[in-house]
Amino acid sequence: MKTILRSAAAALLLATAPIAVMANDKIAEAEKMMMQAKEMQAEAQAMAEKAASMMEAAKAEAADAAATATAAAAEAKDEEPQAADAEASEEAPDNIKVSYEEDGKYFTEDDVPTYNVAEDGTVDWYTFSGFRRYHSECHVCHGPDGEGSTYAPALKKSALDMDYYDFVDVITNGRKAVGASANSVMPAFGTNKNVMCYIDDLYVYLKARGTEEVGRGRPAKKEKKNDVYREIENDCMG
Ligand code: HEC
Repeated sequence: MKTILRSAAAALLLATAPIAVMANDKIAEAEKMMMQAKEMQAEAQAMAEKAASMMEAAKAEAADAAATATAAAAEAKDEEPQAADAEASEEAPDNIKVSYEEDGKYFTEDDVPTYNVAEDGTVDWYTFSGFRRYHSECHVCHGPDGEGSTYAPALKKSALDMDYYDFVDVITNGRKAVGASANSVMPAFGTNKNVMCYIDDLYVYLKARGTEEVGRGRPAKKEKKNDVYREIENDCMG
């Protein structure tokens, strides 16, 4: 009995210690207190568990924030244009959202081309065309569906991270990776009509891949190629 009383007293914690001492001659009361102590203990345990999980979540959040901050800092240090890219990626939602449509072409409120996927999954013509152009001109290096390869980056990500004008610039003028061991080259396509005439198509397709609103493979349903598109295309290719 002594051990029970002792454990009861212990469980009651310091605040209730005097009562536990009194329980020496009031066993019944002590037993009752022990029950209560057990309840309190259970409650305390639940609270401790809750606190632990809250701490875990807070830690994860802090780690996330730290990682983002480090990445941003590293990028900012590395190259200035990349710092601009980091900013662009934070603005991604504005970079995607359709603001208006003109002859089957969709734009954001900043007049930058974007894709459109109807509720039934029908993609706009530009997106579909981009899918085709990508797989004829870019996929050898950048991998199928904009997924990237060991040789060249995942363009589905680049299209979200990069500003439209930077994206166009890299394709037009090419780029050579800077770095001691790097020997990867993005060719300049500035004089290649099969690319330059479809640069918006490529861009919107890759953005749609970036958000995964368009899955891998050939989009099943598409809007029709319209007369305005045909005219622009003929002018450019001719
Ligand atoms: C011969 C291989 C090759 C082909 C073909 C090619 N690329 Fe690239 N591309 C690269 C390499 C390699 C890089 C990375 C260069 C660097 O690190 O500076 C790159 C980088 C890029 C970037 C910059 C990506 C970023 O996140 O910084 C864009 C945009 C791009 N390519 C678009 C295209 C498009 C669009 C096509 C098709 C019209 C294409 N590329 C075809 C090899 C290629």
